[in-house]
Amino acid sequence: MTRTILVTGASRGIGRAVAIHLARGESATMILLGRDAAALAETAGAIREAGGQAVPHGCDVRDLSDLRALASKLPPLDALVAAAGIGGVTPVGGDASADDRFREILEVDLVGPWNTVRAFLPNLGPGGRIVLVASVLGRFGVPGYGAYCAAKHGLLGLTKALALELLPKGIFVNAVAPGWVDTDMAAQGIEGMARGMGISPEQARKKAEAVVPVGRFFQPEEIAEGIGWLLNPANTMQVGQCLNLDGGVVQI
Ligand SMILES: NC(=O)c1ccc[n+]([C@@H]2O[C@H](COP(=O)([O-])OP(=O)(O)OC[C@H]3O[C@@H](n4cnc5c(N)ncnc54)[C@H](OP(=O)(O)O)[C@@H]3O)[C@@H](O)[C@H]2O)c1
Repeated sequence: MTRTILVTGASRGIGRAVAIHLARGESATMILLGRDAAALAETAGAIREAGGQAVPHGCDVRDLSDLRALASKLPPLDALVAAAGIGGVTPVGGDASADDRFREILEVDLVGPWNTVRAFLPNLGPGGRIVLVASVLGRFGVPGYGAYCAAKHGLLGLTKALALELLPKGIFVNAVAPGWVDTDMAAQGIEGMARGMGISPEQARKKAEAVVPVGRFFQPEEIAEGIGWLLNPANTMQVGQCLNLDGGVVQI
């Protein structure tokens, strides 16, 4: 049976790769959410080329009423993947802009997935699957990344609570914690790291790769494989768990 799967952050990076992977693998109908209409249309085109169906919807995950309005127009869903997110640094000794950035990161990276689950829960039934995209920064702290670490640690707490809350409805909730993945967000992170250390982006990337036991960044398609496994209806083992997709950085 063809599944209908909603993905936030489908315009770029990991969300885009997940949407294409699922459409290609099982001809799923993909509901694509993001703010950049042109980029969403590009993802939709790639899905159709791969033989799948795609329905793009422009929306901001901070806007619960907009998400709810969309949910009321959508058919039943089999699964949702909350991949929308933003990065960035918020040094605690920084200027006033750090306060705005702190709130913005929490709003997109933690309240966003909460809004997404709240809005689309009525569309999910028994057997439904939810995957929230966290990060290795939900597992440990990194100086200067207070907001992002707080949001991603919070997201893992949310995953555990929702998993037990929704299991009686037959809905399975889990998370993934990617390490470095080759996307726009990672490129911005490397540029920031290079600026902070006074080195080139190439040197910063080498330093980042050196702390990954397998010695490299991952491709969005590799993260999509892991998410696909959690979304598999045959998989009823994972409940409130976080799958590390990081090449050995975190071993719990
Ligand atoms: N790349 C990494 O190394 C890495 C590592 C660990 C975890 N992650 C996590 O993986 C997820 C995807 O990141 P990525 O690397 O694929 O980043 P990316 O390439 O920058 O893509 C981010 C996606 O989030 C969407 N988005 C951002 N703000 C949004 C908003 N307010 N409302 C709706 N959509 C919004 C963007 O779409 P629009 O611009 O169209 O709105 C875009 O599709 C994030 O949650 C990130 O924290 C990434």
